[in-house]
Amino acid sequence: MGADEAIGNAPVDRYAESAAARKSVAAPAPSAPPVRVAERGDTRRAPQLSEHAPLAPSQGVADSRAAAAAADTLDALRAALSAFEGCALKQTATNLVFADGNPDADVMILGEAPGAEEDRRGVPFVGASGQLMDRMLAAIGLDRDSVYISNILFWRPPGNRNPTTAEVAACMPFVQRHIELVRPKALVFVGGASAKAMLDRTEGIMRLRGKWYDYRGPGLDKPIPALATFHPAYLLRSPGQKRAAWHDLLLLKTRLEEMS
Ligand code: URA
Repeated sequence: MGADEAIGNAPVDRYAESAAARKSVAAPAPSAPPVRVAERGDTRRAPQLSEHAPLAPSQGVADSRAAAAAADTLDALRAALSAFEGCALKQTATNLVFADGNPDADVMILGEAPGAEEDRRGVPFVGASGQLMDRMLAAIGLDRDSVYISNILFWRPPGNRNPTTAEVAACMPFVQRHIELVRPKALVFVGGASAKAMLDRTEGIMRLRGKWYDYRGPGLDKPIPALATFHPAYLLRSPGQKRAAWHDLLLLKTRLEEMS
């Protein structure tokens, strides 16, 4: 019926809950927040950003700026994230999901946030969408030794819900520092959440994809070319868009050839 993962230890009888709520006019039973039914990056949006409680955004961002700025190596950045308490997602996640692939690679790929499998293993893009991403990369001669992969969030949002603006903001200084430390020749933002946050744009991925942008991070001396494209989880649900994704992959391939 569309449920693809368990999010609680015990089953909950929602019919009984709503019957109780109908009886109790004074104190209706609260319903759980809606849960996303598909993998990360799916464009079927469930809860929107404002539906979740804010996570002390200003404090989180101030802490993350200081912690990220102090990290001079990727190991230090990972350690700083492990010690960081400014993003509440950490409390519900099993593992920090930092990065995979080759930090010396020309290409750095940034997705949205870890899903269930990534959370279990502590490695980005290892679930179904990661497997599709691997096949897409292979189609242009790339693999995890020739790309570096991370996300704009380092912990899984519970039930794969959409990240809040506060969570994205708290992680952003770490993401920016991550890019500064890796200094890839090209960035690829997969999915709307990543593209919008990293390019600071409001358009959706349909408009943003298939074009090169200049990513200007706070600590970069020159901009890094950045391509926005569809998220593989979206492609799994909308295979008709694979043609457009192939176009984007060819843009990346051509750009890398020009750079080498
Ligand atoms: N989707 C993402 O955006 N990132 C992952 O790591 C896995 C799925």
